[in-house]
Parts: sequence; C-alpha cells; structure tokens
Amino acid sequence: MTKLSDQYDPGPQISHAGAINLGTKDIEKSLWFFRDILGMEEVERDGDIAYLRAYQELRHHSLVLTQQDETAVNSYSFRTKRPEDVELFYKELQRQEIETLEIPSGTERGRGTAIRFQLPGGDHPFELYFDMDKTEAPDELQSRLPSNSSRRRGLGVRRLDHFNVQTSPSTINQAEAWVRETLGFKRREFAYLPDHPETLMASWTSVTPQMHDLAIVANAQEKSGQLHHVAYNLENLSDALTAADILRDLDVSFGVGPGKHGIGQAMYLYVHDPGSDHRVELYAGGYLIFDEDWEAIEWKPVDFPEGLTWYGDPIDVTPGSRGRDTTNSAGLSHPYLNGK
Ligand SMILES: [Fe+2]
Repeated sequence: MTKLSDQYDPGPQISHAGAINLGTKDIEKSLWFFRDILGMEEVERDGDIAYLRAYQELRHHSLVLTQQDETAVNSYSFRTKRPEDVELFYKELQRQEIETLEIPSGTERGRGTAIRFQLPGGDHPFELYFDMDKTEAPDELQSRLPSNSSRRRGLGVRRLDHFNVQTSPSTINQAEAWVRETLGFKRREFAYLPDHPETLMASWTSVTPQMHDLAIVANAQEKSGQLHHVAYNLENLSDALTAADILRDLDVSFGVGPGKHGIGQAMYLYVHDPGSDHRVELYAGGYLIFDEDWEAIEWKPVDFPEGLTWYGDPIDVTPGSRGRDTTNSAGLSHPYLNGK
C-alpha cells in the first residue's frame, strides 16, 4: 500500500550536522583531549587520521582528527535525509554554478559518497552525505543500553551538537540566506550589527528542533573562514560544572564559562583542544522548537550581552578585553566575534 509520504516529494533536505574534520598539529594530544578526557571512542585510525564518536552516536564518527601543519577545519559535514538527496543537492549546486567536488565512498572512512563545496559567502568547506556505517564498539566499551554506542566515560560528551562559524560582515547576509534558501535551515534567533542595522551580527539556524545546528557570526577582523567553535552535548547542566572542575586540574585552558546563554538557554563551557587549539564548547540544556511557524527572535544591541551570558562567567564586551584589542572597522568589540 502506498504511504501518504510517498505521494509528494519534499525535495532534498538536510537531516542534521554530522561531523567535523579538524586539522591538528598534535594528534596525540588531541586524542588525549577528545578520547581520554571528553570520553569519546576512537573508532578507527588510518595513519595520521583518527575517527571518533561520542557515546550516544551509533554511526561511525562525528569527529575526524587529521595530523597536519595547519589547525584549519578540513570539512563541516551534514547528513541528508534521504540517499537521493546527495545527488539532488549536487544538481542544485551545479544549477547555481557552485564548484562542487564528488568525494568517493570510503575517502572518509565509514562514509559513503559525499559532495564538497565552499559555502557561498564564506570560506567554509561543507560536505553533504547520506551513508555512514553503523559501527559496533569493542566488547570492553559496550553499553547495556542499546541507544548508546558505548558506555558513558570521561566528561561524558554524548553527541555532536552544533557548529559556530564566522564569515566577514560584508558576506554574512549572503551566507546566512544561502543556508536557509538552499539547505533549508531555519533562522531561530538573530542580531544585527549595532552600527549596521541591516547586516547580521549573528544568526542561529537549525534543521532540527534544536535552537541551532549551525550558527553564523560576523568576524570582527573581516575574516571569512573562521571556526568559532564546535559544540558537543552533555546530558546535564551540572556536567558543565564537573567538566570545569576536572579540566582546571588537568591544566586545560577554558576561556569562558561555565555559564548560561540567554540565546538558546543552554549551559556553556568553552575549552580549547590542547593539540589543535580549536575551541570546543561543552553544551548542556537549551530549549527545543516544535512550531513549524516559529518566528525568529531578534536580539537588540542593548540586550545582546544578556543573550550571550544570562548568568555565570560573563563574556566581556569592552574593547581590548582579555588582553587583546578586538575592535574592528565596523566598530565591533566583542570577543564572541573573534575566531581563533
Ligand atoms: Fe555554541
């Protein structure tokens, strides 16, 4: 019998943020951080590349660590909703004359064919894929809970949560509109630049009920390809406090937190992977969105500091804070707007 859902074609859609490939100058130190401290499983090692996942991720990986001279992000990967969506997005990118590469199955271990392109309006390498192996953990790591891929360990990160990327103020509107119009992300919360009320300062977008799967923020130095952070999700608000306590003793630096965002209403702790220096947010809580007709929430400049830090360790909004001058030509003076 034909299902109702077979009677229409919604077109290609993104399911969720799937994985990030981080370049690191010291893969052993990065593995110590992500595997031994955060508690992720090293699923596979292929020379200078390691594949990891968190304990509630059943698929092969959400994090790829690549030993290399640069601390760049090699890719942001998003899973599509259906197998045919990869090809359909490829056709759409061709129609828009966006240069797109096909990444053969297995190039990233455990993953099927993907397509790769640069985000219009930003220097961010995006990849779309559907197939990724479901992988069994070795016996010694297995959980009795079938919804866990392994036992909870370390600081207990349970899944990839979101990406926060930066692009320049001159192209952020283009980038944000593109992910909404082509990839189907919905704008959930946003703010305009104080002195440029038609230019986005930040937009939090999602394809899932999460408040954001992808945040796009204007970079104060006009850089268009900066990762601000990748976030991993913790089960409990108190896990962020525990993480702070443990990381302090291990001498792992954290910049801001623990605290709570007004925007998204989640607990945060921003730490740095000591191998790569990439910023990682440990993220817990937050609200979910179920209304299809959700109206995006605008944060006015006067309220924005409260949006970033509702309580806890405040993010300093004064120029030159935290030992560096963060003011740029657009009059921005916020550490949140600075990439690595
Ligand atoms: Fe975040």
